[in-house]
Amino acid sequence: MKRIPLIAANWKMHKTTAEAKAFITLLAEKTASSQRRIYIAPSFPAIEGAVNAVQDAEMTSKILIGAQNMSDHAEGPFTGEVSATMLKHSGARFVILGHSERRQYFAETNACIQRKVQKALYTGLIPLLCIGESKHERESGHYESVLSLQLEECLKDVNAQQMAQLLIAYEPIWAIGTGENATPKIAQQTHRFIRDWIEKKFGHACSEEVYLLYGGSVKSDNISSLMQQTDIDGVLVGGASLDVNTFSAIVNY
Ligand code: 13P
Repeated sequence: MKRIPLIAANWKMHKTTAEAKAFITLLAEKTASSQRRIYIAPSFPAIEGAVNAVQDAEMTSKILIGAQNMSDHAEGPFTGEVSATMLKHSGARFVILGHSERRQYFAETNACIQRKVQKALYTGLIPLLCIGESKHERESGHYESVLSLQLEECLKDVNAQQMAQLLIAYEPIWAIGTGENATPKIAQQTHRFIRDWIEKKFGHACSEEVYLLYGGSVKSDNISSLMQQTDIDGVLVGGASLDVNTFSAIVNY
């Protein structure tokens, strides 16, 4: 089964509200004839403006706005944190969880990410869970056990029905922002490994429904070869999602 291609943008710490709105207005024009699903994750303050821009462009069935992170707590004295409910009310539909930059710079553990997955599901936000191995883990041949552990711990208490709505992004750390993307062959093999893992745990039907995205130095010149792979259903784009012409070219690959 081939799922409708899904192209997601992780803007990281880039773009003001005005910039986000201008981008979305142009993106809507440039991708008007595309059937692809588009997910965009702006910074927290730009979410509501981005949602409004999608509504103004009458693209709500095609472009979904989400967040890059959220708190693992529901509410309370957690200065600087943003809850799932706040995101939901600002119009976010999905949330990126467990990005390697969160794990690396903000000490997020699988246990913390697991709590966020549960909060997102409970609140009605689609979790976009990121997993991925380091260069050392890939080269030493340990990457499968690293990925299995991330899946096992982050998806604890998720049932098959919830799992079918989740998105998983495989983002090898060595490919993020480095210009060194995983080859289509490596990406496909790893996605197959992840889908097999999902099948074993949640059953065949679920494993066929789950979207598996690849992330790490996706550009307009490598998108087609990545998307040709059977188990790559979409991509999560960082650097190349910041320019509207480049990102539109990726969406319209
Ligand atoms: P780059 O596309 O800049 O490598 O970033 C990938 C990423 O981290 C997306 O979440």
